[in-house]
Amino acid sequence: MTKTFLQAAVEIARGAGAILREELERPPDIAYKGDFDLVTQADRRSEEWIVRRLQEFFPEHAIAAEEGTAKDRESEYRWHVDPLDGTTNFAHGYPCFCVSMGLARNNELVLGVIYSPVYDELFTAQRGEGAHFNGKRIRCSRIDSLKNSLLCTGFPNHKRHAHPNIYYYWDFTLKSHGVRRDGSAALDLAYVAAGRFDGFWEFGLMPWDSAAGVVLVEEAGGTISDLEGRPYTLGGKSILASNGLIHAEMKQVAAEIAKRSMPPL
Ligand code: IPD
Ligand code: CA
Ligand code: CA
Repeated sequence: MTKTFLQAAVEIARGAGAILREELERPPDIAYKGDFDLVTQADRRSEEWIVRRLQEFFPEHAIAAEEGTAKDRESEYRWHVDPLDGTTNFAHGYPCFCVSMGLARNNELVLGVIYSPVYDELFTAQRGEGAHFNGKRIRCSRIDSLKNSLLCTGFPNHKRHAHPNIYYYWDFTLKSHGVRRDGSAALDLAYVAAGRFDGFWEFGLMPWDSAAGVVLVEEAGGTISDLEGRPYTLGGKSILASNGLIHAEMKQVAAEIAKRSMPPL
């Protein structure tokens, strides 16, 4: 039987998740890609599996995977693959990490699959067909004010000292129920889609961090833009994802912070 893109992606993400669960039982094998940027055998094994299986299912598709296992090429379809989003959590045995696979057709994101293997939670979405959590339809939350919202953000693994996000973290923490920093941007976005978080922002995400989550949030009825309210582009400077109802308020707070002079850290 020929599998649909979604069936194939779910099967592959679950397989990668099984590899991550197995690797979690072993002593961590950590190397550094930068000052705080870790990579483990789990990242590499998961990616090798995903790339091999995608090439078997869809030999003509392009694959852009974080650890560089696949050679890029021209194609109508491109998979954006993060084989382990939340490597730092993984390396510390903190069970918040996932496999993230987003598919773009002619540069438009059309499908997203995010799998959290420790909790066996599967988030899926296809353009025009809604978002699902373990097979059940999900929608973003209905909370309509920032002060009653639970938010999340993340901090980059590179050049943290040169980064202003701590000031955004400060302000949003004081203006909401709280801001979580859970260490997996893909899961952060999936949780916005599932209504667990009401809003999320981050600077400097890579295409593989956000591709799947963007489809999930949009298909769950949420809004995606950059922090200034312009359309979000993969790999863009910032991302703002919300249930839609608090988007304008979040944008406004971000604009006020950006106007201030931020002392260097
Ligand atoms: C990281 C996580 C983290 C985010 C970083 C990403 P990785 O991805 O998504 O939440 O704050 O910007 O680089 O390195 O664990 O795949
Ligand atoms: Ca990532
Ligand atoms: Ca990763």
